[in-house]
Amino acid sequence: MENNLYKDEIAGFLIENSPEDIQNFMLELQTLMSYYKCAMHEIEAKFKVLNEQFSLQHERNPIESIKTRLKSFKSIREKLQRKGLPLTAQSIWDNLNDVAGIRVVCSFIDDIHMLGYCLISQDDVKLIEIKDYIEHPKENGYRSLHIIVEVPIFLCDDKRLVRAEVQLRTINMNSWAKLEHRMRYKKNLSEDLLLRTHDELLECAEISNQLDLKMQAIRNIIEK
Ligand code: GTP
Ligand code: MG
Repeated sequence: MENNLYKDEIAGFLIENSPEDIQNFMLELQTLMSYYKCAMHEIEAKFKVLNEQFSLQHERNPIESIKTRLKSFKSIREKLQRKGLPLTAQSIWDNLNDVAGIRVVCSFIDDIHMLGYCLISQDDVKLIEIKDYIEHPKENGYRSLHIIVEVPIFLCDDKRLVRAEVQLRTINMNSWAKLEHRMRYKKNLSEDLLLRTHDELLECAEISNQLDLKMQAIRNIIEK
């Protein structure tokens, strides 16, 4: 299981703890991760159903691809540390909304809000938070619709409500975000280089947005 990947890192990080404590933490983390994994599967299935239904009704797929990921132990640890929170299973459960991540790449801008709305309208989905970086792009040009939801997962004799982060983007928004991330993230670039690349990347984001808007307009003409 993927969680075993965390094993060495956890043992290394909790070096001052007793072997029993480490073992307990590992078990709790493993259980937690299995809940997050189930929540990702549930949400992915919901989007697949929406894609299927839409393609039957409109003869086209609004979804290009769906990717799911569990946050790495390193990222979990760093985020809790950044927020000044303890590294315990309870703390992860209480404080992190993005351990389970689902990224949905859509064909057209309008599909993003349509799919987002369909998801949060489902009666087993609870909306926790929406950040609309399409309506309000980040100052670097980043665009995406982020939705934090809570979904139930059903165990043999119990039910858990699990939070997950859904990111909806067009193909162009996704390309920009992936390249920007690859070039700038944790690269220790100098202030000067950051400033210069900031403007260039912002311009690329604007061009990419123009492309999305044009494509949407063409589709509107065709569908009329
Ligand atoms: P973090 O989750 O710690 O990043 O803080 P947050 O929850 O306030 O962030 P937000 O919801 O704004 O963004 C979370 C995720 O969106 C990140 O983990 C990235 O996947 C993506 N993201 C946000 N901003 C950027 C950006 O400027 N560039 C890229 N490439 N991705 C971004
Ligand atoms: Mg986040």
